[in-house]
Amino acid sequence: MPLVTSTEMFKKAYQGGYAVGAFNVNNMETIQGIVEAGQECKSPLILQVSAGARKYANPVYLKHLIEAAVETTNIPIVMHLDHGADFEACKSAIDDGFTSVMIDASHHAFNENIEITKKVVAYAHDRGVVVEAELGQLAGIEDAVNVKAEDACFTHPDEVCEFTEKTGCDSLAIAIGTSHGAYKFKPGQKPQLRFDILEEVGKRLPGFPIVLHGASSVPQDKVAVINQFGGKMPDAIGIPEEMLRQAATMAVCKINIDSDLRVACTAAVRKHFAEHPDHFDPRQYLGDARAAIKELVKHKIVDVLGSENKA
Ligand code: G3H
Ligand code: 13P
Ligand code: ZN
Repeated sequence: MPLVTSTEMFKKAYQGGYAVGAFNVNNMETIQGIVEAGQECKSPLILQVSAGARKYANPVYLKHLIEAAVETTNIPIVMHLDHGADFEACKSAIDDGFTSVMIDASHHAFNENIEITKKVVAYAHDRGVVVEAELGQLAGIEDAVNVKAEDACFTHPDEVCEFTEKTGCDSLAIAIGTSHGAYKFKPGQKPQLRFDILEEVGKRLPGFPIVLHGASSVPQDKVAVINQFGGKMPDAIGIPEEMLRQAATMAVCKINIDSDLRVACTAAVRKHFAEHPDHFDPRQYLGDARAAIKELVKHKIVDVLGSENKA
């Protein structure tokens, strides 16, 4: 099956009360772990690439690795640009064959966000590519943008109709209390999401796919393994998975996960070296990392996203 856009995927997800996982990819083992999980669970997948990933792996390598994933599976796969910083970043991904891009102009003023997004939508739609935009700002770090918790702001439901109508974007990322990275809530703080905002946005935009960024749950068993074998991850608290499950039954059709893959990968590698200090063949420890990523993605598909057997 060739690369697809997310249009049909989101239509089915919205109607079916589930979400599609958008997993960040940086290297071969991560891509393989994710797509093996998707294939075994017969789940659609979004493989997303950040600017940092393109810089790390070289855009050509990543593109061909994703094409290899498509060639060796028969599930629908979207190749998505994560957090496109400006028109040029989105144009470059579209010209490279991405089927979906995110323009993240959420740190600009409302009207400027509209103008930038509109320009990307025009270029993308002419080439059959879909566009995710963002309204509201999440806390956390992604590439060059570091938004402090006090500067993050929730999406205003009053703005979503005007924004989607004027921009023509295909999906909308909103801020309801999730944030990027492994440290989402302070120790002792009770994780909370603004489901009232999500519900209101869903009412204002019936049938329109909503995206949740910063949706890692930071599995405590894996953090414990990292710390047991020499790591130091202080009190990492993520989004409870039952909240993500609930969001997936509402208007949320795409759930972004990166940090959990990093945690699973690091736990596997640390455990491997603790148990086999004599190993030096990367296939041995990266093989464990790939298996851990696969197990984590299967769990997300089956127990959190609800996208099993929806390919
Ligand atoms: O939202 C950001 C993603 O986790 C990508 O992270 O920019 O470090 O590749 P990165
Ligand atoms: P996490 O850091 O919670 O995994 O979020 C990833 C993300 O939103 C990528 O765009
Ligand atoms: Zn994000």
